[in-house]
Amino acid sequence: MSFPEGLIAQLRISKNLAVLTGAGVSKESGLRTFRDAQTGLWAQYKPHELASPEAFQRDPKLVWDWYAWRREAVKGVRPNPGHYALVGMEKHVPDFTLITQNVDGLHRMAGSQNVLELHGNIQRVRCADCYTFTEVWDDDTESVPHCKVCGGLLRPDVVWFGESLPRDQLEAAVQAARSCDVFFSIGTSGVVQPAASLGFAAHNRGAVVVEINAEPTPLTPKANYSFHGKSGEILPALVKEVWG
Ligand code: APR
Repeated sequence: MSFPEGLIAQLRISKNLAVLTGAGVSKESGLRTFRDAQTGLWAQYKPHELASPEAFQRDPKLVWDWYAWRREAVKGVRPNPGHYALVGMEKHVPDFTLITQNVDGLHRMAGSQNVLELHGNIQRVRCADCYTFTEVWDDDTESVPHCKVCGGLLRPDVVWFGESLPRDQLEAAVQAARSCDVFFSIGTSGVVQPAASLGFAAHNRGAVVVEINAEPTPLTPKANYSFHGKSGEILPALVKEVWG
């Protein structure tokens, strides 16, 4: 695989690099994406029945069990070469920010340091009422576990449709997108806001935009470089070509 000279030169002088990732970067680890035809989770499940506060209100057990099932799936996988290539990239660029929509925690598991989790983390559980986080809960099969502090229902610490993103993570992500000299968009369909607007914000600030995705996205027309393929193959090859 070879890469345009212009991109290689730009990356070698980059001082401030921001990367946005989505479910596609974890697909080669064995986790399903959301919107891939047939295989995506939303091809089989209805997001409004499982990933919204209304759904949790309506049937907390159904929602709890679905996330418990996904949490087990995440426990069964490991980072792939795409995750590790981003760890390598972080070591070569003075200012590096990894903004992820993924709740699987695989970037940190791979060794990435400056990670912003825009949509939370499925391994974390908190009280739906008093927000107390907990590492341990009774996994009794009959009902959703309760908070030991206020008795409220426990829920996964992920952002559901219609909920606000964690303010500190979002503000830092917007700041990174607006100040970077190179912005990567990797393994995301670019249809969920506000994450989907970060690439456009970087483009409008004159950053070089690089897209790595299995298929074109709304960001493709704005990207200076687009690579349509597997991030677990393209990223390691790019990092090797640029930094050896
Ligand atoms: N390498 C690169 N890209 C890939 C790969 C791969 N191996 N496999 C799939 N893709 C691409 C798909 O073509 C698709 O465009 O990854 C993208 C994944 O898009 P989505 O499934 O929509 O996932 P994402 O963009 O992360 O979704 C955003 O939506 O459902 C909510 O909260 C959830 O964080 C999620 C958000």
